[in-house]
Amino acid sequence: MDFDLVVKNGQIVTASEILPLGLEIGVKGGKISCIGTSLPTTPATKVIDAEGAYITPGGIDSHVHLAQANSPTGDDWETGSRSAIAGGTTTIIAFASQERHEESLMPVLQDYHAKSRAQSYCDYGFHFILTNPTKHILQEELPILAEEEGITSVKLYMTYEPMKVNDRELLEIMLACRKLGMTTMIHAENSDMIALIIEGLEANGNTEPFFHSIARPRIAEDEASYRAISLAELVDAPILIVHMSSETAMGHVRKAQTRLLPVHAETCPHYLFLLSEEIKGKPHDHFSGAKHVCSPPLRHHAEDLEALWRGIANGTFTVFSSDHAPSKYDHPGGKKLGIVDGIPRFAKIPNGVPGVETRMSLLFSQTEACLSPDEARLGLPRFVQLTSTNAAKMYGLGGVKGSIAPGYDADLVIWHPGNKGECVISQNMLHHGVDYTPFEGMKMRNWPRYTVLRGQIVWDKDGGGVLGEMKYGEYLKRGKGQVVVGKTGGRAHGMLENERRYWMQ
Ligand code: URP
Ligand code: ZN
Ligand code: ZN
Ligand code: ZN
Repeated sequence: MDFDLVVKNGQIVTASEILPLGLEIGVKGGKISCIGTSLPTTPATKVIDAEGAYITPGGIDSHVHLAQANSPTGDDWETGSRSAIAGGTTTIIAFASQERHEESLMPVLQDYHAKSRAQSYCDYGFHFILTNPTKHILQEELPILAEEEGITSVKLYMTYEPMKVNDRELLEIMLACRKLGMTTMIHAENSDMIALIIEGLEANGNTEPFFHSIARPRIAEDEASYRAISLAELVDAPILIVHMSSETAMGHVRKAQTRLLPVHAETCPHYLFLLSEEIKGKPHDHFSGAKHVCSPPLRHHAEDLEALWRGIANGTFTVFSSDHAPSKYDHPGGKKLGIVDGIPRFAKIPNGVPGVETRMSLLFSQTEACLSPDEARLGLPRFVQLTSTNAAKMYGLGGVKGSIAPGYDADLVIWHPGNKGECVISQNMLHHGVDYTPFEGMKMRNWPRYTVLRGQIVWDKDGGGVLGEMKYGEYLKRGKGQVVVGKTGGRAHGMLENERRYWMQ
């Protein structure tokens, strides 16, 4: 066999094990064709010497916002996907977003294809954000999306006035998705609680960015998460609650999982590393706290972070995604939209933070690869589950992406050996299109040395940086998702399961 690429002298990590040092990866035609020892090379074979470093599957970031109308100063496909590969992410799943007045999803999808086609450094797929789930859309368009367009997941919002759906709509969406083997992703915050608090804060003149974190208390997330789980249980549908930040909400997920309900959870780097203190901004510039405004908000106490780290370690979280939702800070259409007539107004600040590039390194730096067993937050196989394998399974890329095994796409992250990859995160090393990072100044214990996408080296940290080409990234038609946690048709509370047969279609 003539390989195009051989990666030798590395230590391969999968979602279940760390393979012995010295196994080599042979790549042909963009796929992993074998893993073995002493693989033959020819003068035409590209050889990477990993120098003893760990090799993990290319990152899959399943929560990325690019080129959405509601964040005009954020990243487009070029800058967002470039940022992804420079941080070890080879696949992103971004959003195609319906606006409420749009009666068909098809033109929306074409629009997102036009914004991304031949403009991506990494492979990518779409989730659909549904804001107006009409019968036509649920019964006629979703099947086309799932079966022809490779879009097998939707996201819906329980909050945000222009986007939110009510409980009945939520149920209808879950039922439609369940029939098609699609996953329903839910942004869970209680909209009315938040609206009430915002009105009170504004009436009292409490409008600086920090009050964003007061406006969206944990209980708003807790209540909505429990409600989402209950609605899903009623109709026996798999769900994933996105960007979770609350211990109590996470506890609701955990309880559902122990009952084998197919309830999945996601958390994000900013909830594990940052506290609401950041939203206070600098002593002489409170408004700079706007850089840390996202929803749910950063939480107040170190114990909040500790609780989420337990969920990372114990399996409650299924995926670890960036929720890359950038807006420029110092730009007329960016975060400074939150200054109205010279007065800070937190409720007008675009929500979301950038993070697609820093995600992999932030979590890897907390693994047993970088810390002693006492200090490490998680093992390497768990790192691989959270950053790649589970997203591939859940979102219909299983068998193609998310593992290092024969037949899979040759998507790899080769880390630096030992402590050679140490660095400090700063805006000027990043490749996104916005003007700050919320992780400025954080010390990383490693950073991807090489990112390999379908057998091509697209990132070489010490040898030229971004080597990939913008048109190399391919659109991924995804298959049906697998339920990673629990099962459908499982046990429900009391008589629910028996009773369903009387009414469920
Ligand atoms: O603050 C956030 N997360 N904004 C982005 C949109 C979303 O809710 O995911
Ligand atoms: Zn959201
Ligand atoms: Zn002030
Ligand atoms: Zn998001």
